[in-house]
Amino acid sequence: MASIDFDLLKKLYAQFSRTEESSKTPDILEPMPFAMAEDDRRYEMWEETGKILLSKGEVAAFTIAGGQGSRLGFEGPKGAYDFGLPSHASLFRLEARRLLNLGAKAEHPIPWAIMTSPLNRKATIEHFEEHSYFGYNKDSIRFFDQGMLCALTPEGEPVKDKNGNYAEVPDGNGGCFRALAISGTLAWFVEKGVRFVFLANVDNALVKMCDPAFIGFLASNGNAPCAVKVVHKRNAQEKVGIFAFKNSKPTVVEYTDISDELRNKTFEDGTLAFDGGNIGIYAFRTDALRKISTMELPWHAARKKVEDIENCWKFEQFLFDAFPLIGQILPYGVEREDDFAPVKNMTGNDSPATARQMLGMLHRSWLEKAKVTLKPRTLYEISPRLTYAGENLSQEIFDRELGRGIFEFPA
Ligand code: UD1
Repeated sequence: MASIDFDLLKKLYAQFSRTEESSKTPDILEPMPFAMAEDDRRYEMWEETGKILLSKGEVAAFTIAGGQGSRLGFEGPKGAYDFGLPSHASLFRLEARRLLNLGAKAEHPIPWAIMTSPLNRKATIEHFEEHSYFGYNKDSIRFFDQGMLCALTPEGEPVKDKNGNYAEVPDGNGGCFRALAISGTLAWFVEKGVRFVFLANVDNALVKMCDPAFIGFLASNGNAPCAVKVVHKRNAQEKVGIFAFKNSKPTVVEYTDISDELRNKTFEDGTLAFDGGNIGIYAFRTDALRKISTMELPWHAARKKVEDIENCWKFEQFLFDAFPLIGQILPYGVEREDDFAPVKNMTGNDSPATARQMLGMLHRSWLEKAKVTLKPRTLYEISPRLTYAGENLSQEIFDRELGRGIFEFPA
């Protein structure tokens, strides 16, 4: 285990345990407008551009999978979770197969970086080993660990476990930039000639890995460092971060930090003012990643139970705190039905059941577009081996693949 940064912990405890009111002037938050990408007349051009970049090997994928998935109540790595599709595909398998489909079309393998934590790295690699890397070339995948930070007791002492070892927890997904560089993975990208990196949360069943139009959008916008996918929020209460300008700089205000006033604020026509939801899908220029990896992101503190001690301090960095530092992000609006089916909770919203339902509805809509005759009240799961985003489907393929690459399940 790496050595513990006690100086940093001391600094963070001093910063967050201070009780006196801060004299800081209040932040000015303004909504960040966004347009739906598919309605843009340049959409096809972006898609073509992305495909060319993929065929030149200039695009890589980066999955952040170091989180603990505690809300889901699943012990293993979240990406290994089988959320009950007829194929029993795990989230990692869906991601791998989508990348394989795209890589085959581009005639270029897509390098894939997967960030784990020391708590789930072994189990993550075992999941890939057990499934022969889902057909991915092992040499095109790199696993690396993110950083860890010791939790502190309410009094600021490092927490120890029953064996007397320091209780370390992952340092948040903002640690991904540092870890990407320290692990040599950024250099691996550069060596391969990668200029654009698609970065996504591990827990989205609909994630369009390395979405060509999204990559092409970033590449066609001058030297912009980063693009972000945005959805309209389902309602004011939805637990997603919101894209906004904070003191004129682009950022995400996390759902845990939004005041009720801001959450519910509407324009005159009654629509939500802060409506741009973060779905954890980003594209970066490799150059920008290099720059960010040398920057110090701010820390966030949470009070949680650690090793049976209530109210411990856990410190984390958030990925999107890089946005105000780089100063520019390009919002790219998408429909959640095409791009966002998160698996976060055991039941209710954003659960395995809602993710299955959304994937089934999307795949059914693809088959309807291909004029395939379908049963009513039935959903379909189509293997990413057959299609990346609904292309290449027909009645003939459906008849041939039903029960093999296409499965039925009740709506
Ligand atoms: C995250 C976003 C939120 C967004 C939502 C969309 C952050 C901080 N918040 O919320 O704005 O609306 O996704 O689904 O990004 N992870 C690590 N290491 C860590 C912690 C997390 O790799 O130390 C990874 C997780 O494995 C996951 C991703 O980061 O892939 C986001 O997980 P989590 O921190 O649980 O954020 P959410 O609350 O889901």
